Amino acid sequence: MPSLGGLLKKRRTKDSHTLSKELESASSAEQQQHQQHPTDTQPSSTEAAAQPQPASGEQNQASADANRPIEESGVSMQQSAVAQSHSSATPQQPQPQLQQQSGNVASINNIINAQPQPQLQQQQNAGNAVQATAGGQARTETTRSTKGKYSLEDFSLQRTLGTGSFGRVHLVQSRHNHRFYAIKVLKKAQVVKMKQIEHTNDERRMLNRVRHPFLITLWGTFQDARNLYMVMDFVEGGELFSLLRKSQRFPNPVAKFYAAEVTLALEYLHGHQIIYRDLKPENLLLDRHGHLKITDFGFAKEVPDITWTLCGTPDYLAPEVVSSKGYNKSVDWWSLGILIFEMLCGFTPFWDSGSPVKIYENILRGRLKFPPYLHPDAVDLLSQLITADLTKRLGNLHGGSEDIKNHPWFAEVTWDRLARKDIDAPYVPPIRGGQGDASQYDRYPEETEAYGVQCEDAYGHLFPEF
Ligand SMILES: Nc1ncnc2c1ncn2[C@@H]1O[C@H](COP(=O)(O)OP(=O)(O)O)[C@@H](O)[C@H]1O
Ligand SMILES: [Mg+2]
Repeated sequence: MPSLGGLLKKRRTKDSHTLSKELESASSAEQQQHQQHPTDTQPSSTEAAAQPQPASGEQNQASADANRPIEESGVSMQQSAVAQSHSSATPQQPQPQLQQQSGNVASINNIINAQPQPQLQQQQNAGNAVQATAGGQARTETTRSTKGKYSLEDFSLQRTLGTGSFGRVHLVQSRHNHRFYAIKVLKKAQVVKMKQIEHTNDERRMLNRVRHPFLITLWGTFQDARNLYMVMDFVEGGELFSLLRKSQRFPNPVAKFYAAEVTLALEYLHGHQIIYRDLKPENLLLDRHGHLKITDFGFAKEVPDITWTLCGTPDYLAPEVVSSKGYNKSVDWWSLGILIFEMLCGFTPFWDSGSPVKIYENILRGRLKFPPYLHPDAVDLLSQLITADLTKRLGNLHGGSEDIKNHPWFAEVTWDRLARKDIDAPYVPPIRGGQGDASQYDRYPEETEAYGVQCEDAYGHLFPEF
């Protein structure tokens, strides 16, 4: 059972009580970029070249620098039938139609016979060109200089996109290039009170190190007397959480698409010795084309071997975290199992009337009930991910992440094309791209305390990297 000293995040209030109850009564088979640098000036047409998307997620420093502030070409993506039907959806019709079989929406066919998307092909070509000029340099860490790079005056702050334990994330517009970004604002006093100084410094440091098509990009950080600020890309399509709750559950191919993108991102992070530790649909955002971006590196940490800190979100905690044992990166693969389960079923496997203590008991008991509608391949994969036995947990064995990618449930996935975003997403969010359209995000009460206040800064020295 978790002891004191850790920090656990709460889930959004809307859980899936009803769906979980349904399972109880069902005969359950018991078992077993396009990013633009915020202070760049408005792009001219010559700047409007496509941003390369590194296929492997790796990009050397030279190419990263060369490409950082390049604008997306503005070529409009071919919208899927889903998106088109959606753009006219009213709030009274909240059920996104995730089509399974047709056209360029997610389907097994779609995953196998992906149509190259002209724009992304172009991005890839641009990436190759730049990498060629970089002359085959050894791959290096892409640590960008983000410290103290901007100030509050560089942005006009707009509505809140999400709130968390120590602060909130705002939609902002750059006063220089007029593009939209998201800024995570953390209250220093709150971070200190909740003993999250190290995690917060780690969040900035880890985000600074990573560059991958399915991970959020951090452009810069700064601080004032009271707050820390992290400037990121604004991911327009909203949380996967919202889409999942509206859809109740995802069809197999849809869940597979998102799970596969997450798998590539986790593989990349683990390859950099980074453990993520907070996988859940609230932290998975959809970009304007419907691809995932993992945000919230609040618990991400460089862990070459083993760590002990209790952190995460109750439903998603691996048993070795719950029982305060040392644990390694394989906790992320357990969480991937929980995520796939939640996407396919609409509720998490150990959820229990919202009580964390009951959830922990269920996690430690480790009894998984699979609803009868789950595909046998999904049941097999979930049984191998959501297992307390670390010598059996997929991802933690000799084959590493390859064992997961080679599992029959993922058989249709063409991983290299997926990594290039060369596969249509199952659902294209109904947003107006590039215009600060935050319609896919829930509304929150706005902050009442002014930012940028000049006063005594008691904690600034604790965050030297911002
Ligand atoms: N880059 C972003 N673009 C758009 N919304 C974001 C972005 N980053 C975070 N959010 C929103 O803000 C919420 C809280 O941010 P997050 O980093 O997850 O904070 P916390 O650590 O408090 O959970 C997210 O769940 C999401 O809704
Ligand atoms: Mg979060």
